[in-house]
Amino acid sequence: MRQELRQSPTLSLNNLSLQLIEKGKEVIKFGFGQSPFPVPDLLVEELKLHAHNKNYLPSQGIPELRESISDYYSSIYNDAIDPSDIIIGPGSKQLIFSIQLALRKKLILPSPSWVSYNPQATMLGLETHWIDTDSKNGWKLNANQLDNYAKSNDVATGLLILNSPNNPTGSVYTSEELQALSAVIKKLKLIVISDEIYGDVCHSADFVSIRNYCKSQVIVCNGLSKWAGAGGWRFGVSIIPEELRDLKNLLIGIASETFSCVPAPIQYAAIKAYQPSQEIVSYKSKINKVLALVADYVRECLEKTNIIYSFPEGGFYTYLDFENYRDQLAHHNVTTSSDLTQKLLRDTGVALLSGDAFGQKDRLLTARLAYVDFDGKELLNAIGHINSTQDILEYIPKIETGLNKIAHWINNFSIK
Ligand SMILES: Cc1ncc(COP(=O)(O)O)c(C=O)c1O
Repeated sequence: MRQELRQSPTLSLNNLSLQLIEKGKEVIKFGFGQSPFPVPDLLVEELKLHAHNKNYLPSQGIPELRESISDYYSSIYNDAIDPSDIIIGPGSKQLIFSIQLALRKKLILPSPSWVSYNPQATMLGLETHWIDTDSKNGWKLNANQLDNYAKSNDVATGLLILNSPNNPTGSVYTSEELQALSAVIKKLKLIVISDEIYGDVCHSADFVSIRNYCKSQVIVCNGLSKWAGAGGWRFGVSIIPEELRDLKNLLIGIASETFSCVPAPIQYAAIKAYQPSQEIVSYKSKINKVLALVADYVRECLEKTNIIYSFPEGGFYTYLDFENYRDQLAHHNVTTSSDLTQKLLRDTGVALLSGDAFGQKDRLLTARLAYVDFDGKELLNAIGHINSTQDILEYIPKIETGLNKIAHWINNFSIK
């Protein structure tokens, strides 16, 4: 079997954790980044109403859905978006794959980056260029790193995927950082996929899109998987700049020859996700309040250790670097990120996803921590009465236990 077609590391980690649970072990699932919140009732009710819809629909997405998405994003970007430049797909993952397939460009990725971009390029026989980033800047790619890389590597006119808020780091790019990057992007004539799947899960910073600074080169990807907790609905959106209309036609062609269309009931239900409503506004504000408090607690705990971590500002993640414990870990034959996560899982039952899954060099002692192992439904109901990290603790026992276990585990190494 072709190596690049193996199961993605996030899913295999989840399976391994489930196996341990079946054997009676308690596993704290910090490895898998799925929204803990229920899908908003409004969307569920709408889906029920449309369950009878059985027809194939246009591959690009039904016009009334693209219109509601266009109204929504026109106000987010403060720029009129033509519904004909919007394409719907079964998840943004599929859309990103289709874009890579259609463009067939060299892929440029900051290291670390989300797990699936690079395997998709590999499957398509495309070259990936990894650019190292720095923990001091929350592992965000900066303009100098991109510019310098392009001086010694032929990446002009390639495809850069930028993801903010970021998976795996939880970092959010600022407008200054994006402006500086866009100057280099223009100089190198790159195409950018701005993966904004966590754009509405930006709990401790302001979300800014790189589309604001170089829109003719930017394809936006988003969907319902993260903010609406609807990963299994498989619904994604791409906004294609008018300068790339040929790409749009290719994407519609790929859709029509592969998945045909997003399931009809999902398309009709998704209209409500983009139309203005108090229910959706309140849902988004509640999930972000919960996540901000949980992220604050995670930070407070990590602060008490010597683990380097990224400030969790958006999404569900913080990225850890155990470099300060390298010598102590080496005494226990832990010299790579996967050694690290395996030993942690075996010793404590805490599952993290190792840095090599995100394209980082094996020898780095990095791992992603997803802080979503809690009952999101319960917290959504309670959040009106919760105002501090202290108040939230009774609702996040596994987060508390998991962080204590990590701290205890690593401190034991330091004294040995
Ligand atoms: C950064 C990032 N992009 C894209 C996706 C894919 O999301 P979906 O295909 O469910 O829209 C994910 C899902 O984990 C993600 O974390």
